Parts: sequence; structure tokens; C-alpha cells
Amino acid sequence: MSVFKHFLKWQLGLAQAQTQTTVAERDCLAVHAAGRNVLAEIGVWHGVTTCRLRAVMAATGVLYAVDPYPVGRLGVSFQRRIAASEVGRVQNGRVEWVRKTGAAAARALSAQLAGKLEFIFIDGDHSYNGLREDWEGWAGLVAPAGLVALHDSRSTPTRPIEAAGSVRYTQEVILKDLRFTEIAVVDSLTVLQLPGES
Ligand SMILES: C[S@@+](CC[C@H](N)C(=O)[O-])C[C@H]1O[C@@H](n2cnc3c(N)ncnc32)[C@H](O)[C@@H]1O
Repeated sequence: MSVFKHFLKWQLGLAQAQTQTTVAERDCLAVHAAGRNVLAEIGVWHGVTTCRLRAVMAATGVLYAVDPYPVGRLGVSFQRRIAASEVGRVQNGRVEWVRKTGAAAARALSAQLAGKLEFIFIDGDHSYNGLREDWEGWAGLVAPAGLVALHDSRSTPTRPIEAAGSVRYTQEVILKDLRFTEIAVVDSLTVLQLPGES
């Protein structure tokens, strides 16, 4: 179905917002994001995972929702419109929309967020260099005991993606980063934690 057709169906209540995450992955994200005060999501699309994060974060918290949302042929991003509406319906915490790539957002927010980021879900550009840029921009901003969740970080029988850049970068670089410990693996999702007191 074309993006525009899906948007019309979504407006009429005949189609839902879409995600590539599994139910188990979303449940895992919700467990680890619960009660956190400073969160970021890189790659929002229709906002399905953003809604889960917003619902469980601290009521006093802020969630940076980062996505460049390039416009399509009609000059608008229908994905952005769907996300804004879906995420806007969740009444908890505060969401700051950052319409930039993950790398550009990290540069813009690094002074403000350094050492304060309690949870980040990286699900943006899944190429090797795309994840490298996100990892290099965001990993150093994570707070003590903070968490990094990576989607499409491993291949699974139902999602065989061993050749994906995000899988290769995770396995070759991120899992060898001695600052972080792997604390959970669910489907293609990996969750890492920094040591320290939260
Ligand atoms: C797989 S979707 C995210 C899905 C969302 N996390 C969910 O499961 O509901 C990937 C999104 O990343 C965005 N994206 C692509 N390149 C990006 C980049 N360099 N930085 C941040 N987001 C990017 C795309 O516009 C797209 O909306």
C-alpha cells in the first residue's frame, strides 16, 4: 500500500500506525524505560514505540523523539503527521520533537544531555555507517546506570537480517565496547547498560 493510501486509511480508522518491532520487543522497551526521566528515541516513524516509551516514562520526564522525516512527493511527511497524532494522545511526560538525523540531533543536544541520558532506543538509519554515527554521537551522553536499546541488532529465525549494517556494526563494534554490559536480548533487540548508580 502506498504511503498516501495508508495515511487516508489511518485517518478513517481503517489502518493502524505501523512498526517493525515485535510485541516482545515493545514490552522489553517498556520495562527498561519505566520511570526514566531523560529518554531519546532515534527513528520514530509512526510513533508506535514512542507511545510505549511515553506511557511508562516518569511524569516529570522528557522524551526526545528524533527523526528527520524527509518529505515525500507531495511535500509532506505523512509518517510525521501520524506520529504527532498518535504520540499526542498519550498523556504523560513531555515529548520534544527533533526533526534531524540522529547524528545531527546528538550534536545539537550534546552539551545539554551529556551524562544525563537515562534511556535511549536507537532505531533510525540501519546501515553500518548510520548506526556508527548514532553510536558515536549518543553513547557518550548516557548517564551512569543508563540504558541503550538497539533494534535490528541481531538476526532471528523470523527476521533473518544477518547482512544488515546495524547487525554487523552491533556485533563488530558495540558489543565489544567495554563501557557497556549486555543485560537483555529479545528478538532483534539488544539492551545494554552502563555501570553506576541511577
Ligand atoms: C524503523 S523506523 C522506526 C520505527 C519506530 N521506532 C517504531 O518501531 O515504531 C526508522 C525511522 O528512522 C528514520 N531515520 C532514517 N534515518 C535516520 C537517521 N539518520 N536518524 C534518525 N532517524 C532516521 C526514518 O525516517 C524512519 O522513520
